[in-house]
Amino acid sequence: MRDLDAELHELRARIDRAARVCVLSGAGMSAESGIPTFRDALTGLWSRFDPAQLASEEGFRADPRLVWDWYAQRREGVRAAQPNAGHLALGAFAQRRPGVLTVVTQNVDDLHQRAGNADAIRLHGDILADRWLQPCRCRPRRDPGEAEPGRPPRCPGCGALVRPGVVWFGEMLPEGAMEAAERAARAAELMLVVGTSGAVWPAAGLAGTARRAGAFVAIVNPHDSEIDASAQLLLPGTAAQILPRLFA
Ligand code: OAD
Repeated sequence: MRDLDAELHELRARIDRAARVCVLSGAGMSAESGIPTFRDALTGLWSRFDPAQLASEEGFRADPRLVWDWYAQRREGVRAAQPNAGHLALGAFAQRRPGVLTVVTQNVDDLHQRAGNADAIRLHGDILADRWLQPCRCRPRRDPGEAEPGRPPRCPGCGALVRPGVVWFGEMLPEGAMEAAERAARAAELMLVVGTSGAVWPAAGLAGTARRAGAFVAIVNPHDSEIDASAQLLLPGTAAQILPRLFA
């Protein structure tokens, strides 16, 4: 029979010895803070909503109000949420051992940052940030914060629409984010992948990048993921259950 306690104990010792640790997080990291995941069968957002309509530029152009309102509701959920024991354990570890941990997240919430990982690399943007759909054409150029309130807000000069600062399907990742994440993955002696289905690339490739560069890769997830083959250790459990035992 499997002895999960012993495996956690051993992994904790590896973390304590490591000079560089990288955590790659996905939506499951924030599930216990009450923020829904995307692909969980019953509760995931993509089981109830259409990503082509709500997470693409075409979808936004087709019905800006609908898409704006959907993100406005998600923003409220993020603002109301609190970091869970998993986020807090990573934040405390970063304070205790500065310079060791790099958090790379696919999450668009700010819970890693609020828990103390201010430098977390955000691959998929920031849901609380506003940006222009197309560049403001005013001279001088206005900031999205100067847009007229509306659903969505618009530039009072040129009419440019404001959109949420997340990465939609088919879009580039924020400049420099993937490069920084790859550097962290290659430098890590240990990579912990937490709460991602591994369905979205290039983020999903980071576990393999770390493994090929010699890292020990462990995955924390109550279910299977598409990148389980990249890991030497699969820890069946949730972020808030497992991370405090490894990092607190
Ligand atoms: P998914 O919804 O695809 O996967 C969430 C994963 O978390 C699943 O494998 C679950 O089994 C696992 N999980 C659920 N609850 C958990 C818990 N409490 N602790 C640990 N794991 C748990 O989310 P992502 O992999 O993050 O894109 O999805 C990747 C991207 O697809 C997202 O960043 C989003 C989405 O479209 C953008 O927002 C741009």
